[in-house]
Amino acid sequence: MKNAASKVNPLNRREFLVNVSTVSAVVAAGGVLSACSDGVPMPVEFNYGVASGDPLADRIILWTHAKYQSSTEPVALSYQVSNDAAFTSIVTSGVLTASADTGYTAKVDATGLSAGKTYFYRFFSGRSISSVGQTRTLPAANTTEVTFSVFSCADYPLGFFNAYAEAAKRDSHFAIHLGDYIYEYGTGTAPTDPVILNLKRYADHAKEILSLDDYRKRHALYKSDPDSKVFHAKMPLIAVWDDHEVSNDSYKDGAQAHDPATDGVYTVRRAAGLQAFHEWMPIRTDSDKTKIYRSFDFGSLVSLHMLETRHIARDKQIQITELAGLAGAEKQASAYAEYIRADRQMLGATQLAWLQQKMATSQATWQVLGQQVLMARMESPASVLSKLNGDSRDPTAQQQGLDAITAYLTAKGKKAAGASLTAEESALLNTSVNPKLGYNLDAWDGYIVAREVVLASALQLNKKLISLAGDTHNGWHSDLTLMGLSNPALANLKVGEEFATPGVSSGGFEEYLPAFTPAQVKYLFENIVDDLRWLNPSQRGYLKMTFTATEAKGEWIFVNQVLSRTYTAEIGHTAPFRAASKAVTPD
Ligand SMILES: [Fe+2]
Repeated sequence: MKNAASKVNPLNRREFLVNVSTVSAVVAAGGVLSACSDGVPMPVEFNYGVASGDPLADRIILWTHAKYQSSTEPVALSYQVSNDAAFTSIVTSGVLTASADTGYTAKVDATGLSAGKTYFYRFFSGRSISSVGQTRTLPAANTTEVTFSVFSCADYPLGFFNAYAEAAKRDSHFAIHLGDYIYEYGTGTAPTDPVILNLKRYADHAKEILSLDDYRKRHALYKSDPDSKVFHAKMPLIAVWDDHEVSNDSYKDGAQAHDPATDGVYTVRRAAGLQAFHEWMPIRTDSDKTKIYRSFDFGSLVSLHMLETRHIARDKQIQITELAGLAGAEKQASAYAEYIRADRQMLGATQLAWLQQKMATSQATWQVLGQQVLMARMESPASVLSKLNGDSRDPTAQQQGLDAITAYLTAKGKKAAGASLTAEESALLNTSVNPKLGYNLDAWDGYIVAREVVLASALQLNKKLISLAGDTHNGWHSDLTLMGLSNPALANLKVGEEFATPGVSSGGFEEYLPAFTPAQVKYLFENIVDDLRWLNPSQRGYLKMTFTATEAKGEWIFVNQVLSRTYTAEIGHTAPFRAASKAVTPD
């Protein structure tokens, strides 16, 4: 068979004209040409749709995957960017290649675009053509409103990506993904989870993934999802990874779920995971693949600072069982020393200096951090954490946790009402006896000095700070306050707010606190955690953020289920940014 695609050449004028006429027929037919005979270019498959991302005012990353049906040869591609969906007004075009070196993914930084404009794009090879994507450049300085759809945590075998489908229907200017875009887990060769069995979305999930080939196949599985394709074709994406793009609870030197004895050298696995991420995501790739922190300016409204909190500098997580004293006094003392260590890292010095410089020079009204894990202080009394934590899901432990919460809230309620307290109740409310600690030490609560530095920087610069977070699979809205670590006079001073998005399909608190109803979980967290304004612990969906010169507003959009592609959706909660702190009853 002749191989017309072994050379990587731009389309000549005649081929271009042939293709443009062909395109209309293909689009009308709704499919990809598949004719194949001698003298005719081999058909190319665009099985994973198209995507765009990392918009700037004059350029944007365009992405696709292209492979010959019956050859492993590199595929010569052309792309077009147009003002209209019918491609009658081409703005720019060019060539690129999809080859085995990149798992047959291809992306290009399409330049020469104008600020604040909607564009359409597509890819060709011979007579084969991709689907059409819609995208958008960053707005001009005078823009009056910008909207984001914010996502995290899409676990393929656990549910359908209805949140992506809904976001594509409701639209927003830009999409942000805060990580766990894929999950590395295996379901075993004979999964027993009834949800996983019923959904039958576990085709390649037998084993936890380790190699580059594994990670590529996993990304391909996710990009084969029809709702993912529709979503990516509708709006540009700004993405960062969280831990599951490599391994659970990853940090700079390893991951909780990575065992070198069985999984091999961690840095080799990490390099594979990060390479696949850069291949399969519409992200602008630096020579250093770990360096994905970057900023985007949406006119004078928003500066969005995307952060990397996993692989560059993060110190190893502290165990809550050790910090809460469940592993003995000696381990508790060493865990506490690490907890308050002045140079304990989350971002690292270079990224922190970059962030401080970006915030200092930004002229935008809103300084928004797009990052992985909860930044707000999710602090609970040690009396609760010593009974109830992520390592104790059995009903007895959960009942003990509930009893501890009830005792604490009872004491707090009595004090607020002016009633006299027993010695035991007084001790519960004495923070030097019963200190408040974060329960999730993989989040910023395990990196308190690093968090304090970021928040203090925003305060010093007098910037309106908003954190967007994912990771937990639940929807949260919280104040961001200082702990007063370096200046006790600043303790509990509000410097911003956090809007955290629920998972697309990953399970929430119902998995971690099975003995509690969602209403109980909501009540307990909202009453124990001083900085928490609102929680939804049981529904999947996404967060829509709207920014104007005077307001930042979060809307949590929930789907009624992820177990079927037939679903309904509603705005479950709406909250504006407030300058004032949540009113709390003091201990
Ligand atoms: Fe997740």
